[in-house]
Amino acid sequence: MNEFIYYNPTRLVFGKNQIKALKEELGRYGNKVLVVYGGGSIKRNGLYDDVMSELNEIGMEVSELSGVEPNPRLSTVKRGVELCKENNIDCLLAVGGGSVIDCTKAIAAGAKYDGDVWDLITLKAQPQEALPFGTVLTLAATGSEMNSGSVITNWETQEKYGWGSPLVFPKFSILDPTYTFSVPKDQTVYGIVDMMSHVLEQYFHNTENTPLQDRFAESILITVMEAAPRLLEDLENYKLRETILYNGTMALNGTLQMGLRGDWGSHNIEHAVSAVYDIPHAGGLAILFPNWMRHNIGTNVKRFKQLAVRVLNVETEGKSDKEVALEGIDRLSAFWTSLGAPNKLADYDIDDSKLDLIADKAMARGEFGNFKKQNKEDVLNILKMSL
Ligand code: NZQ
Ligand code: ZN
Repeated sequence: MNEFIYYNPTRLVFGKNQIKALKEELGRYGNKVLVVYGGGSIKRNGLYDDVMSELNEIGMEVSELSGVEPNPRLSTVKRGVELCKENNIDCLLAVGGGSVIDCTKAIAAGAKYDGDVWDLITLKAQPQEALPFGTVLTLAATGSEMNSGSVITNWETQEKYGWGSPLVFPKFSILDPTYTFSVPKDQTVYGIVDMMSHVLEQYFHNTENTPLQDRFAESILITVMEAAPRLLEDLENYKLRETILYNGTMALNGTLQMGLRGDWGSHNIEHAVSAVYDIPHAGGLAILFPNWMRHNIGTNVKRFKQLAVRVLNVETEGKSDKEVALEGIDRLSAFWTSLGAPNKLADYDIDDSKLDLIADKAMARGEFGNFKKQNKEDVLNILKMSL
């Protein structure tokens, strides 16, 4: 293992009716709040009313930023920063999925930064301060509710970047599985693919002696694979929603990466694809990740084999390590397809006309990937395999 310090300051408030904790959790941070939400799902499922009634009870002065897009845009972040400055906002509350939370993180830092908030996202500047914020999560997927990362798209320049700072850990996150009942089937599938991809990004590393980290990762994958098909048949099943929600958070709250450095190359390529085509993040991952795996199988075939045997139940008898590893990748991809995820770029009507542009965007911060460094040729190859 590598040396490490683990720190996660987010208070996780999990379970049925935990919205009742909102007053106490948010009340600590002032009395002028900016509530940030998306395109209206929280109005349709009743969460908006529940949140507002809690906030009214403690006399919070509420401003609102609605309409945060999936793949949240810089223009929306800037609107939020303006609202914070105009209304002397003390704290923020994100009510939604990863996009709403990521947007809120950028607003929280942008409101305390004198320059252009894009500087923070492009890592030209580091935030020195941020407004405090909490979240009420409505979709199990990104882990943003308990991490310090955020992904923002500049639609004008077609750039989508991840950035992060310890200052933008949510102060608290309220997770009630009931509020995820209304997530439609396709978004539920995307969430499942995304959380599994987060585990896999951290599973592919070159650090020695990580037996517990490996088994933590494998147990999340196995648990999600057991629950996912049943959940898709029964979208309002509390126990299954609860299981998936908890897995999503644990997949990307720092637990799995103690003492190691995950790869994150597939995410980098996917962000480049969705910067150009605005496709759902995990739809892109379902297509790209298996091909990243096939392309990089030679880096450490034993690791791919371990995944195939322990998680995907591949029999080893009479097969080479590589055959076992490849069968594991095929099974993973087939599992995602069986849930309804796409498995080729053509499923989103993406052809080969912009592959070079996508590859350039993926290379914007130079060669990437901690398990295996990828250059432009690698990216183009993975994209071509994904057509
Ligand atoms: O906008 P509304 O109306 O709320 O609808 C949303 C949206 O259309 C809907 N939805 C959310 N909760 C719902 C619901 N519909 C019905 N009932 C509910 N309870 O679902 C749609 C997608 O929401 P979004 O927030 O975009 O999804 P997700 O949580 O998957 O977030 C995706 C974004 O997160 C980034 C992705 O790149 C993408 O931009 N990521 C953030 C990460 C992080 N901060 O750590 C890591 C990830 O790898 C990822 O890159
Ligand atoms: Zn992701």
